[in-house]
Amino acid sequence: MGHGGDIIHELTTDHREVEGMFSDIESLPPGEPRRKELADQVTIELVRHSIAEEQHLYPAVREHVPEGDRIADREIEDHAAAERLMKELENCSAAAPLFDRLITALMIEIREHLQDEEDHLFPLLRQSCSPEALAELGDKARRAKRLAPTRPHPSAPDTPPLNKLLAPGVGLVDRARDALTGRGTH
Ligand SMILES: [Fe+2]
Repeated sequence: MGHGGDIIHELTTDHREVEGMFSDIESLPPGEPRRKELADQVTIELVRHSIAEEQHLYPAVREHVPEGDRIADREIEDHAAAERLMKELENCSAAAPLFDRLITALMIEIREHLQDEEDHLFPLLRQSCSPEALAELGDKARRAKRLAPTRPHPSAPDTPPLNKLLAPGVGLVDRARDALTGRGTH
């Protein structure tokens, strides 16, 4: 399943990519430095995904889905919880015992989010929104994600802005968010 199509298709494609990255992390032994590189990449991917959802999915849910406000508020709380875990992860090396606890907690949190959206939210939205509106939202979601690299290469982040985002130091989540929302550039 490639990128493209309506917003549900686009976001579901993101979900499969994130799951693939989680499987890669799980396939490596604890302490393996590559686990940290993958955690950084999945963080960028999740920030892009969250921004697309916050800007275009949840407003549509609020507008079209019955009890949409309640659903959107809960989803945004879930994003905030995941973001806190990702910020803690930034400061952990793959060798730190805390790294394993945090990445495990993040995977549980995100997998629940993916399943919940795919089982409940997306079907509700499809029922309440016209195909044309969903297609238009798909374009908007892709535009929202475009400022960050579409396909971070695992070992060679040598093109901006990924090299900038992955530069050592704290604040990866914030830098990724700033790059995507254009914050700090105008
Ligand atoms: Fe999602």
